[in-house]
Amino acid sequence: MIQKPKGTRDILPDEVYKWQYIEGVVRDILENAGMGEIRVPVFEHTELFSRGVGETTDVVQKEMYTFEDKGGRSITLRPEGTAGVVRSYIENGMASQATPIKLWYEMPMYRYENVQKGRLREFRQIGTEVIGTESYLADVEVISLGAKIFEALNIPNIKLNINSIGCPVCRQKYQEALRDFIRPNLEKYCDTCKTRFEKNPMRILDCKEQKCKEMNQGAPIILDYLCEECREHFEKVKSLLMNLEIPFEIDSSIVRGLDYYTKTVFEFVSEDDGLTVLGGGRYDGLIKEIGGQDTPAVGFAMGVERLLEIFEKYNKDVIEDYNMDLYIATIGEEADLFATRLVMNLRDEGVFVEKDICSRSLKAQFKYADKKKARFVLTIGEDEVKKNYAKLKDMKTGEEVETKLKAEEIFSKLFE
Ligand code: HAM
Repeated sequence: MIQKPKGTRDILPDEVYKWQYIEGVVRDILENAGMGEIRVPVFEHTELFSRGVGETTDVVQKEMYTFEDKGGRSITLRPEGTAGVVRSYIENGMASQATPIKLWYEMPMYRYENVQKGRLREFRQIGTEVIGTESYLADVEVISLGAKIFEALNIPNIKLNINSIGCPVCRQKYQEALRDFIRPNLEKYCDTCKTRFEKNPMRILDCKEQKCKEMNQGAPIILDYLCEECREHFEKVKSLLMNLEIPFEIDSSIVRGLDYYTKTVFEFVSEDDGLTVLGGGRYDGLIKEIGGQDTPAVGFAMGVERLLEIFEKYNKDVIEDYNMDLYIATIGEEADLFATRLVMNLRDEGVFVEKDICSRSLKAQFKYADKKKARFVLTIGEDEVKKNYAKLKDMKTGEEVETKLKAEEIFSKLFE
């Protein structure tokens, strides 16, 4: 049998309602904050990600699904949403609209990762990008929306960690200090780290190899090297978060896995399993890097699979599957025709109603209604059609009431 590729998952009808619930809550929060939904292509020119996300990142070096299309172009399945959204912002001239441009998305992403708990090869992200403001107020707005989402979904044990990774100006001095720290041990670092030493030593801090992690202990931290502007920006972010009573911790080890970040970076981490559910930050250089005007921006994305997993842990009985209101069981052809019309009328009224479409026995029809957890069953035979009356059975209590075979009357009996 052909099986699904490793690191992908099927979302079946009996679980999709949980996704829809989460998506609904998050959509309301983001749209009430003025975010408009954007949908961009699943694949883009590879160059967008190598330039946008960064040549020296794990995502670009190791994890992209890249192929040549039949026209000889290098194409990549998007590993993240920001680069494509920013490309679309530039290409569609959004800069001429009311600023800031506030966007949100829910899209599948593709990364060739080592598959493990919370780490898939196809996963979904809900993200937001606020483009066109350099103010710290935008950083805090975006972070507060993240906090709001966890609160609205009743997810406890989430910690907000923040850091500032400065701008190209302060980073230059910092990178020199970092190189000085790493240089004596450089030979002992892994091959990937060695290739990053000159080009982008901050990436070495993000290495997952145990021996590299150990050697990174005690490395200088960027917070000590921030320029005046970046320091002030970070101070204002922290102070507004405190004012808004959004708890956070400073984690100077956050460098994020993508190269476009500047100034504020943040992660919401589950204290239950240590996984980062939501990550983001400011990226003031990205839009220029991929061909737009010099425009500041800030955003985040959360992994929906990770979000769903902890949501389920704390909200077992909060949402219920959408079950059938009514099943109409029929005996004979005349009743079948009558019931088909009745079903159509009831569906027009918004009732979740089914009838047999397999020409099955009455017993088999009841079995189906039972398995599908129908709340009520209405049985119609020749006699019922003639009298225009039938019995409506409450499947939980076993109680039966007579009803006229009219959509409005059945509707009121179902929902009274
Ligand atoms: P990221 O940290 O690479 O950031 O991913 C954001 C979130 O996506 C992670 O915190 C995690 O929940 C989820 N995620 C990432 N990789 C996987 C995976 N392999 N399996 C399951 N979930 C995963 C970004 O992608 C940035 N574009 C976020 C951003 C938007 N920054 C500014 N704007």
